[in-house]
Amino acid sequence: MLFKKERQETVTEEAVLQALRQIIDPDLHRDIVSLGMIKDLSIEPHGDGSAVNFTFELTTPACPVRDRFQRQAEEVVSAIPGVTAVTVTMSANVRTAAPHRNQGQVELPSVKNVIAIASGKGGVGKSTVASNLAVALAGSGASIGLVDADIYGPSVPMMMGVTKGVQAENGRLIPNEAYGVRLMSLGFMTEAGRPVVWRGPMVGQAVRQMLADVNWGELDYLLVDLPPGTGDASLTLAQSIPLSGVVVVTTPQDVALGIATKALTMFRNLQVPILGIIENMSYFECPNCHEQHHIFSHGGGQEAGTALHVPFLGEVPLDIGIRERGDAGRPEPGPIFESIARKLAAQVSIRNSLSIPLAVR
Ligand SMILES: Nc1ncnc2c1ncn2[C@@H]1O[C@H](COP(=O)(O)OP(=O)(O)OP(=O)(O)O)[C@@H](O)[C@H]1O
Ligand SMILES: [Mg+2]
Repeated sequence: MLFKKERQETVTEEAVLQALRQIIDPDLHRDIVSLGMIKDLSIEPHGDGSAVNFTFELTTPACPVRDRFQRQAEEVVSAIPGVTAVTVTMSANVRTAAPHRNQGQVELPSVKNVIAIASGKGGVGKSTVASNLAVALAGSGASIGLVDADIYGPSVPMMMGVTKGVQAENGRLIPNEAYGVRLMSLGFMTEAGRPVVWRGPMVGQAVRQMLADVNWGELDYLLVDLPPGTGDASLTLAQSIPLSGVVVVTTPQDVALGIATKALTMFRNLQVPILGIIENMSYFECPNCHEQHHIFSHGGGQEAGTALHVPFLGEVPLDIGIRERGDAGRPEPGPIFESIARKLAAQVSIRNSLSIPLAVR
């Protein structure tokens, strides 16, 4: 027995890290150790060998490969000679990268990532996508805010089922909350049903108030539903908010007419990173036979993404349930929106990882 003990391998921290370096993040194209994802590593005697414990800190709770990462980490560490037990604790800490700031932009120190949801024209489902993504991200465990900055027709209050006005405390607005999402809308500040004519400076002022004068608390992601189109209103707003990036929602016809490209070009010119394209009302799935009918030409969003080197985040079908739940203020993001939310979170992580120094450890 003594003989065996003498020959027993000692497991070192370096050996564990070396093994974990084999795991490459498929989105960030770097190993998980150099990305700083391994924390609190401890090695203790256990039976004839050692027990290894560590925390695997993901860059978003909505990580598309969370389960695979956990399995791989357990496998590679278990394979080290002398390891008799492995405990991997999965956690997430959304990272932030200071976005390029313009003079006069609002300051949002407690918000890690501000993401604009935009479109080339109205009625493509921008607000539907924004509210479902917000609920999906909240469901993954991230802290989420949603700002409805659509001056033409705030629809987030209806879609999220909240219409009450906002309260203020110590001079700061307290966001409403629904489905785990903290909400602000121009609709909370105006009388329901009364049309509002916004003039340029008023828009800037109101939106500034909805962003900067709000008690958001810590937020991982703040989604901003911009006014549709590439006109003055969206341009001014996109410039006054320190954006981590923008998501462009399109429909197949929109792509065919080059409207989506126009929006993408505008953001590119403003130097706002484009996190991806979502094609909404992409196809119709028959509720009876579940066959997919591509009423409009199909695949345009993906093609536009490829042509412009912009990630394609996914396609959402034309679905009566999506409209009904939107009208009823009961968003219920299913697997499609959940998948898009994970892809979006991954794109934000990719952007933010560009600022991680090459050797964290
Ligand atoms: N995938 C979908 N399936 C079915 N109906 C949808 C879908 N996406 C959006 N809709 C419906 O289409 C209408 C327009 O959607 P929405 O209000 O989200 O668009 P928008 O781009 O925000 O419009 P606006 O330019 O007016 O802000 C709504 O009635 C919504 O319920
Ligand atoms: Mg809208």
